Amino acid sequence: MDSDYLTKAKDILKKYHQEHLLYFYDELSDDEKNKLLNQILSIDFEQIFRLYDNSMTNNFALTQELSPLEHFEKSSFSKSEIDRYVSIGENVLKQNLFAVVTMAGGQGSRLGYHGPKGTYLLNLKPVKKSLFQIMCEDILRANKKYSITIPWFIMTSDENDMATKEFFEVNNYFGYPRDSVTFFKQGKLPIINVDRNLMLQEPYLIREASNGNGNVFLSMSKNGILDEMKKLGIKWISFGGIDNVLLKNVDPLLLGLAIDKNEQIASKSIFKKEPLEKTAVYCKKDGKPAILDYCDIDLELSEKKDENGKFLYREANMLSHLMSIDAVDKVSKIELPYHRAYKKNSFVNDEGVKQVPDKPNSFKFENFIFDAFLYFDNMILLRVNADEEFAPIKDFTGIYNPDTAKEKYLKFWKSAEV
Ligand code: UTP
Repeated sequence: MDSDYLTKAKDILKKYHQEHLLYFYDELSDDEKNKLLNQILSIDFEQIFRLYDNSMTNNFALTQELSPLEHFEKSSFSKSEIDRYVSIGENVLKQNLFAVVTMAGGQGSRLGYHGPKGTYLLNLKPVKKSLFQIMCEDILRANKKYSITIPWFIMTSDENDMATKEFFEVNNYFGYPRDSVTFFKQGKLPIINVDRNLMLQEPYLIREASNGNGNVFLSMSKNGILDEMKKLGIKWISFGGIDNVLLKNVDPLLLGLAIDKNEQIASKSIFKKEPLEKTAVYCKKDGKPAILDYCDIDLELSEKKDENGKFLYREANMLSHLMSIDAVDKVSKIELPYHRAYKKNSFVNDEGVKQVPDKPNSFKFENFIFDAFLYFDNMILLRVNADEEFAPIKDFTGIYNPDTAKEKYLKFWKSAEV
């Protein structure tokens, strides 16, 4: 590596007081030295420290005008309404105008599982199924039903891209036509510890991580995914996470509803049972669809009802969204805001020893997908039954653990087969 590069890297680190990142430099192999210097030169230190400093000084009090976002309830539709919407949606599916995006670029830090979260095996005795297989089976069912092949796009991150692709190879793409599966990588940002320092993941590697599922739009544009979809004639795209084992990626009801009501965005919600549960809900901010963080919800607001006795702020986000290609095109040109998340990240200490924290020790900056909805006047919100569509895996100890997900998954499929 050119000594110029080393000088440049040292200057940058000095400017931002990050000289510790070269602490082990002299002990590294030539390859490792190159890797580390390249990484230092590619990081936007100005941006990451600006994000960090702003997140520390921001006053998070809600300044926008709050109003409820109207929602539909699947359970209140009549059979003829359901049939009508489903038939509109199915028509779009049968014309091959629909694609699925699975957002699988997250760190899965709460689960703490080694490897991409999608490779986690759910023990459905006697079989074990990975989250990727479960997602794949869901899309394959729709393919079979409508005699189509839905193009499936999977967002990965620098951290898990290779392992994800290998997993698909080893498992023969779970029977999905491989020409119809496309992986694309999302963006990343360095992690910052509580002392406002970047951290070493290895002596030759600065810890960076995926920058949130809201980066999906920009990444689709940057990686040519949006162009590919346009070439394929795709008109509607479903977006979901990898960790909900009851996610319905292909739902003609939601699709038909959005088309019938002439909206470009539609999402599903589940009813928030406990008023003070730590769950964000849908709302409108300054008249635009948005999400209201649980920190901004008190008992009075959570219990508020309309004149028909319907709760106004109890529709919880379940990361199941549908957008028209035009809507995705529009938001792919917009820089969404970053939110700060406090997470567990292992690091190499000054003695060169790897430290694995047992509680959060560092900040990650993330775009959230729902911030894109603020750029539209309205959207469809459809409340579905959590027992039928929501069984995420987040960690081993909380309510969204593998055992609860397994139980819901087995119960749902048992009743579906009867
Ligand atoms: P979560 O917000 O639950 O995060 O992601 P996570 O990364 O899976 O887990 P923790 O918070 O570190 O424990 C919800 C969905 O969004 C995806 C995840 O892969 C998951 O499917 N996601 C999250 C991304 O695709 N990219 C990201 O940068 C973050």
